[in-house]
Amino acid sequence: MKVKHGFIGFGNLAKAVYQGLKDEADIEFAYYARNRKEVDIPFYERMEDLVTFADVVWLMVKPQDLSLILGELKQLNRAGKTIVSPVAGRTIAYIEHYLGTEQLIIRIMPNLAVAYRKSVTSFASNYPDNIKAVEIFHLLEKLGKAVALEEGGFDLFTAVFGSGPAFILSFIHIFKEKMQEFNLSGEQLDGLLLELTQGTTIYFTQNQKNHSIEQLIKNITSKGGTTQAGLDYFRTHEIGKHFKGVLDAARNRSEKMSKNED
Ligand SMILES: NC(=O)c1ccc[n+]([C@@H]2O[C@H](COP(=O)([O-])OP(=O)(O)OC[C@H]3O[C@@H](n4cnc5c(N)ncnc54)[C@H](OP(=O)(O)O)[C@@H]3O)[C@@H](O)[C@H]2O)c1
Repeated sequence: MKVKHGFIGFGNLAKAVYQGLKDEADIEFAYYARNRKEVDIPFYERMEDLVTFADVVWLMVKPQDLSLILGELKQLNRAGKTIVSPVAGRTIAYIEHYLGTEQLIIRIMPNLAVAYRKSVTSFASNYPDNIKAVEIFHLLEKLGKAVALEEGGFDLFTAVFGSGPAFILSFIHIFKEKMQEFNLSGEQLDGLLLELTQGTTIYFTQNQKNHSIEQLIKNITSKGGTTQAGLDYFRTHEIGKHFKGVLDAARNRSEKMSKNED
């Protein structure tokens, strides 16, 4: 029998999860949102009907909308259903506060690469050994790498792996801005940068088992050469420290969101 997955909210992340899982033979999907979206799965106009349909209920709304959703969900029959929440900064205890401690709740932190089955996703649950929780963990493994984590680690994990794609792209964007000196179109520049990032990823992939990242950087650096000059600037101006500041800012924001649970 097919497992029924229902999304409450169908924005960027729900779309990406659906994209990553839509070819799974044993899963059926539907969603509920205030407005119908352009997607070829059943749409329910009432949350109650979506919850009746679903075995697994995904909370796919923004953090500030979650309390409203949980207030409504609380009134509905949720017996035996699994609740999955990727909502940033909202703890299992926060969700239990509305749905009770009996409810199986799984908190995850994926990123948009779930669409290509290349997410890095953290996992925590109030019943981690429950067979249904284990099944969700295996499903997340299909969407990339999944790792079980204490909830205390979610804030840093969110900064590195949830927001990470945006930070890495911001870095690539700096390269692009620098390359404006060339008389090339934006599309051509993107193509070159894509090749650079893919080449770097393959270099990392092929060598990471036997070499540290420091060693891989060293292999590209000749003494007194151009890379050396750039890396010297990197160290002298503590670019790494500033970049860690970016990650700290994201982590602090996540911590703040977790504490201000209204
Ligand atoms: N995007 C990411 O990369 C990412 C990564 C990790 C975690 N997350 C988490 O995933 C959650 C969703 O993020 P997102 O980027 O997908 O957000 P999004 O694109 O803004 O989507 C939110 C969805 O919620 C629906 N919605 C809002 N209020 C609603 C209500 N009262 N009842 C029913 N549906 C409602 C919206 O549709 P209508 O307006 O039509 O109702 C929309 O489909 C967030 O909590 C975020 O922290 C996102």
